[in-house]
Amino acid sequence: MFLKELLGIEEEVYFVEESYLAQRTIESTLRYLNGVRGFFEGRGMKLLRVREGEHTLGLLIFNPADEEVPVDFWSVFTGALAAAPLKKEFDAITSSIMSSNIPERDIEVSSESWRNAVNEYYSFMLVNRNLCQGCAVRPESYGSVFSENRVRRVTDILNLIRKKGFSQSGQLLEVCCGNGMSTLALYRLGQDPLAVEINKCMVCQGLEQGVLNPQRVLVMDATTISRYFDPGSFDTVMGFMLGLVYEFNKELWTGIMREAVSVASEGALLLFTVSSKPEIEILAGALRGAGVKGEIIDNTDSEGTYDQWLFVGRK
Ligand SMILES: C[S@@+](CC[C@H](N)C(=O)[O-])C[C@H]1O[C@@H](n2cnc3c(N)ncnc32)[C@H](O)[C@@H]1O
Repeated sequence: MFLKELLGIEEEVYFVEESYLAQRTIESTLRYLNGVRGFFEGRGMKLLRVREGEHTLGLLIFNPADEEVPVDFWSVFTGALAAAPLKKEFDAITSSIMSSNIPERDIEVSSESWRNAVNEYYSFMLVNRNLCQGCAVRPESYGSVFSENRVRRVTDILNLIRKKGFSQSGQLLEVCCGNGMSTLALYRLGQDPLAVEINKCMVCQGLEQGVLNPQRVLVMDATTISRYFDPGSFDTVMGFMLGLVYEFNKELWTGIMREAVSVASEGALLLFTVSSKPEIEILAGALRGAGVKGEIIDNTDSEGTYDQWLFVGRK
């Protein structure tokens, strides 16, 4: 596990927040740390501090094995992914705890590595079925789920837009990544996308098959991405085979388009594919309405199913 490597520890680690998304509001973290502050005052706690420069990214509290939990483990707390005012609260509580309990080690890491490590922890929790009590979904074979033809089709689209002068660089976000079939094409072209998908079973499948990178995938509703990422965080935003997009459900998809634009930087590349012309017209309308300049491309083939129409443009 990347987190253990990063911190040089062998014991188990547990985050008090139940999901990556809960790391934005850190309710359990603040409640627990406030409790700890009063309870352990002066009694001594074994702590590790994770920091970037002078900024505390995380605090680990050691829990020795006892009758209830027969193994040593570390409880991990972080404010690094939280909204700004909560980050401040986290800083204040952790500073107060550390003033009466000096951490036995102080570990410097980059905030990016820390974020990836936290991400990976939740991916492992998901794929090990720890987040879904009573999961009855059985693993499927790679061949029954992933299609090389489809990966090739996405690769061809990426090559096509590059030839048209839409080159990519910088931070890449892929929305609605599903089980990672489209993400696989991006990986093979040397890209390192952050991939988001609302359906945790799809993410689980992609992780289980070793397709999705556990450090770089999030179970997240793409209609809410601006709650988790600052404006202009990404230089490219892509989404493949979005939909089905109909008049009756278009608000969902146009909402995703607006969110994509809001987290895209000025000049960012935006690329979305769908199955039919009416669908791409709905997405293009939303993108243009949000200030994106671009074109619809007819990519139809004899099969008529995947990625038949695309919109590519820049913010
Ligand atoms: C047809 S699949 C395409 C998956 C993948 N991009 C591909 O090309 O193979 C569309 C995906 O969009 C996801 N999706 C739908 N609504 C979403 C939302 N609000 N946020 C994130 N993902 C969503 C679905 O769960 C589904 O996995």
